[in-house]
Amino acid sequence: MSPSEEDQLDLRPYWHPVAWALEVGRSPYTTVLLGERLVIWRVGGTIVAAPDRCPHRGTALSLGAVQGQHLVCPYHGWHFDAAGMCRKVPQMTTETPIPGRTRLETYSCEERYGLIWVALEPPRFDIPAFPEWLDRAYRHVRCEPYTWSTSAGRMMENFTDFGHLGYLHDGLLGSRDDLVVAPHRVRQIGRELHYEISISVPNTNDRFAVTDLTEECGRQTNSYVLSLPFTLRLRCQYEDSGAYRTLFFAVQPRSETESTGYCYQSRNFDLAAEDAPFAEFQELLARQDKPIVESQLPKELPLEATAELQLPFDRVAIAYRRALRDLVPLGPS
Ligand code: FES
Ligand code: FE
Repeated sequence: MSPSEEDQLDLRPYWHPVAWALEVGRSPYTTVLLGERLVIWRVGGTIVAAPDRCPHRGTALSLGAVQGQHLVCPYHGWHFDAAGMCRKVPQMTTETPIPGRTRLETYSCEERYGLIWVALEPPRFDIPAFPEWLDRAYRHVRCEPYTWSTSAGRMMENFTDFGHLGYLHDGLLGSRDDLVVAPHRVRQIGRELHYEISISVPNTNDRFAVTDLTEECGRQTNSYVLSLPFTLRLRCQYEDSGAYRTLFFAVQPRSETESTGYCYQSRNFDLAAEDAPFAEFQELLARQDKPIVESQLPKELPLEATAELQLPFDRVAIAYRRALRDLVPLGPS
């Protein structure tokens, strides 16, 4: 990616998922976002994110511990509160004032949908909507997150690429006997791309039970809302029964070439059924996608309109790349 594109695609002022909420317990947690190592910890009901770098000597604070209301550095034992202020320097008497500059920068951090979200600068949009999350008709299955050696843009574009469904996922999401992509159009509403497609899906219930089909194959209408930059909600409706299965998929850009995808499979049917097959289905698809997406060069998603070959059935990719390119001028919605 050229420096001018990188400037244009400043991902710091957007919410990104960085962990499942249950991974952040009593000990400080560390992860990487946009090339920066973070420490995340809980104090009372608050969750805090900061650079994982003590302002004293650059030590990883995630090697330290949470004591009461403070995060304590493992090297010299300095204490930091939830606002990042240094409250104790054990090497000085308690009467000696702690200089105000002895503080940690903290980032916007929120827990929503069982995920921890961080924005490295004041976020320009809200965390994307996941209306099924509070809908008691749905049961949510957390899938194993996957980390691939690719950019978040490539990972997201793969999730929404219609052309590969029947080819790479033959027998799971379509068939090599019928690869023609059905007509669809993409509308952009503020920071969201909306599009819908009707596809024929094989019945995989003997292995995964992720559809409620009784025939060999059935029709399913997929409605997508892609929230820029890297969150997608896909609602599949089975034409047989009218039942819904939703995939909520959000990508953590660890760096320009490494990303982690978090995915929920949510359903409003077979609520008493075993959950594992739903996650296993998603994991199988991800295993098929991984070597393909990791092989794509460049690993960064090319945003120029003339980059790579775009054919009419690639209109989601065309719209996605254009929307990412225009993300800064777009403004908050
Ligand atoms: Fe953290 Fe010294 S390096 S307190
Ligand atoms: Fe795929």
